Amino acid sequence: MFADYEPGKRVGPLPEGFATRPMARDDVPALAAIRVERGDAKPEEAAKAFEWLLGRVASGDATMIVATVRDAVAGYGSVDRLAREGIPEGWYLGGVVVSPPWRRRGIGARLTRERLDWVAARAERAYYFVNAQNRASIDLHAPFGFRPIVHGVVVPGVTFRGGVGILFAADLPRGSRQDERSTSATR
Ligand SMILES: CC(C)(COP(=O)(O)OP(=O)(O)OC[C@H]1O[C@@H](n2cnc3c(N)ncnc32)[C@H](O)[C@@H]1OP(=O)(O)O)[C@@H](O)C(=O)NCCC(=O)NCCS
Repeated sequence: MFADYEPGKRVGPLPEGFATRPMARDDVPALAAIRVERGDAKPEEAAKAFEWLLGRVASGDATMIVATVRDAVAGYGSVDRLAREGIPEGWYLGGVVVSPPWRRRGIGARLTRERLDWVAARAERAYYFVNAQNRASIDLHAPFGFRPIVHGVVVPGVTFRGGVGILFAADLPRGSRQDERSTSATR
């Protein structure tokens, strides 16, 4: 489920032929395969979850960025607007997964940067929650300004298997939404 925690074990730079793009319907089988490989869903469940996300993307309530290496899907990361009891309403980074052969080359960090830029165009804060045992994920997000705001968070519909959840928030003061406002103010 989680990557082994191995600080300081970077493998190398972003691979040659690396690119990112928004998810397309044709990506569903490859995305589902990565999720199944991670071991947190059966193939049909995984495909259904990505189909559902496509609907949220179409309605503007989510985005999904796909990372590719020479056109083959190597990872993905989503953002979802959540309004659930017990957690702040807002934009949540979620479901960032990089296929094991492509890990520790900066793909997870790139997917996080791009998703935060996407949120910054819409809001001044981003959230994510994580199992406290997932130290690789916590280290991945830390340089982007995330700070813990609730330890032991309860998120309806989410199970933090074998651990407790931590809710993190990052302020995004220089979002393009702000830039747009200041541009129009100077016109
Ligand atoms: C977490 C995950 C997405 C990271 O993807 P990645 O492409 O390997 O991450 P990056 O190469 O961009 O790493 C960026 C930084 O994150 C931290 N990091 C990433 N993987 C780590 C690991 N296994 N151990 C310790 N730190 C790690 C490091 O600080 C790393 O910088 P460094 O490589 O210069 O030391 C990947 O391990 C994964 O898919 N894990 C399983 C799914 C998961 O747990 N997702 C998060 C759910 S909240």
